[in-house]
Amino acid sequence: MKKTIFSGIQPSGSVTLGNYIGALKQFVELQDDYNCYFCVVDQHAITVQQDRLALRKNIRSLAALYLAVGIDPEKATLFIQSEVPAHAQAGWMLQCLSYIGELERMTQFKDKSKGKEAVSAGLLTYPPLMAADILLYQTDLVPVGEDQKQHLEITRDLAERFNKKYNDIFTIPEVRMPKVGARIMSLVEPTKKMSKSDPNQKAFITLLDEPKQIEKKVKSAVTDSEGIVKYDKENKPGISNLLSIYSNLANLSIEEIEAKYEGKGYGEFKGDVAEVIIQTLAPIQEKYNELMESSILDEILDKGAEKANVVASKMVKKMENAMGLGRKRK
Ligand code: TYM
Repeated sequence: MKKTIFSGIQPSGSVTLGNYIGALKQFVELQDDYNCYFCVVDQHAITVQQDRLALRKNIRSLAALYLAVGIDPEKATLFIQSEVPAHAQAGWMLQCLSYIGELERMTQFKDKSKGKEAVSAGLLTYPPLMAADILLYQTDLVPVGEDQKQHLEITRDLAERFNKKYNDIFTIPEVRMPKVGARIMSLVEPTKKMSKSDPNQKAFITLLDEPKQIEKKVKSAVTDSEGIVKYDKENKPGISNLLSIYSNLANLSIEEIEAKYEGKGYGEFKGDVAEVIIQTLAPIQEKYNELMESSILDEILDKGAEKANVVASKMVKKMENAMGLGRKRK
């Protein structure tokens, strides 16, 4: 039997090149060999305030992008988190198993709540919901970028805690990250992660950016004054980031690219990085535009939710039984 994969992306803004390299590209590579569930995690997105119309639009757009990058709905189950109530139900049970202290220690919680006056409780209890997403499907492997590693660790902890305290029902999932590109950095501040919620549009490339915008953003990416194309994360974070992007998208090793640009300036290198990105995104954008105009997207999402509901609701019942909720069922 095939092993199971689960992963999700928040519909909280435009999908970035970081999401593509860290997550989506891995999904496409893995879908032939695994039983896959890919989710638009809209309930995660509302841990911070969202405009309702923008959220609706982003949900649809993200679903179309999953397909446009090459997710095949015949092979993988694609669905929207809020259309499968088991996620919130299991999330609650796992919240009751989580300690406030361990949730407060999450880097993402610290980053997102820093300096904010009103921090939602959901932002704190987000990891048990993410654990629920994963554990409901007896997931073996979770392909993500590096920033989600800590959330995977707490998912494993919660699964083990549940198995020990109640009943041994959960598979303990493993994390999978890309070898190059697990953490794509901001083009403006290359020591910071590239993020879709960055207020500076120049910091990230979205999968729907036009060639001209991509060229402009890459050409103005912050680098250094040394003029040597060499990977050195500490001292040359900007160039190292562009090297990672190039290496991942063109399937060339960092060394091969370094050799190719020996004695050449940043101008030529940046021009080629932009070109590789443009070439990668062109077919994705074409497919995306077709999908957004067709009714097939809704059919796929309906089917996906139906399939996910069957699997996830069974697991919720198992969890409830293990914890003693409701009445005993045979
Ligand atoms: P999210 O929506 O922030 O990001 C989606 C995926 O993209 C990866 N990613 C990156 N990879 C490399 N470089 C970057 N700069 C970069 N930015 C983002 C993320 O690691 C992630 O894989 N909590 C998750 C969503 C989630 C989830 C899940 C993931 C909810 N439930 C269950 C896996 C399994 C999140 O906020 O990802």
